[in-house]
Amino acid sequence: MDASAVIVEAHAQLERLFAAYEGADGGAARVRIFDAIACALGVHETVEGDLLYPALQAQTSRYDGDIRRQLEQAHLLDLLAVELAAMVPADPRYDAKVQVLQQLFRLHVRDEEALILPEVRRRLSPSDREALGRSLLERTRQLTNRPRGGW
Ligand SMILES: [Fe+2]
Repeated sequence: MDASAVIVEAHAQLERLFAAYEGADGGAARVRIFDAIACALGVHETVEGDLLYPALQAQTSRYDGDIRRQLEQAHLLDLLAVELAAMVPADPRYDAKVQVLQQLFRLHVRDEEALILPEVRRRLSPSDREALGRSLLERTRQLTNRPRGGW
């Protein structure tokens, strides 16, 4: 699968988890879905930072500023996820913080799909994009199956 399609699908999968969170009934369900969001988000950021961005940077340094901003967004997402992991859903700030996490995630998606992925498609050959897509999927599988070691 083409690398950009892999990334777009990962974004869609996380959006589905956020939608499930909104529809969840009760604190226990929300915590369970938040755990899935935090896990998927952490894996997503890791594979992008380890594989996607370096593949683009190997072709051109022109997008270093955009990539650095994506990494800072990822850092903020991590900070929010860490705070949420230490909170209980009964906390009045819990839902608001999850909403901000979603807003920031949507900013990540918007910027990445508007700025980064078009460059990946332009700069990498179809076969390189296929190979990168396979690596992204494989690494995602490895990290998803690994017991979580915390943040
Ligand atoms: Fe992404």
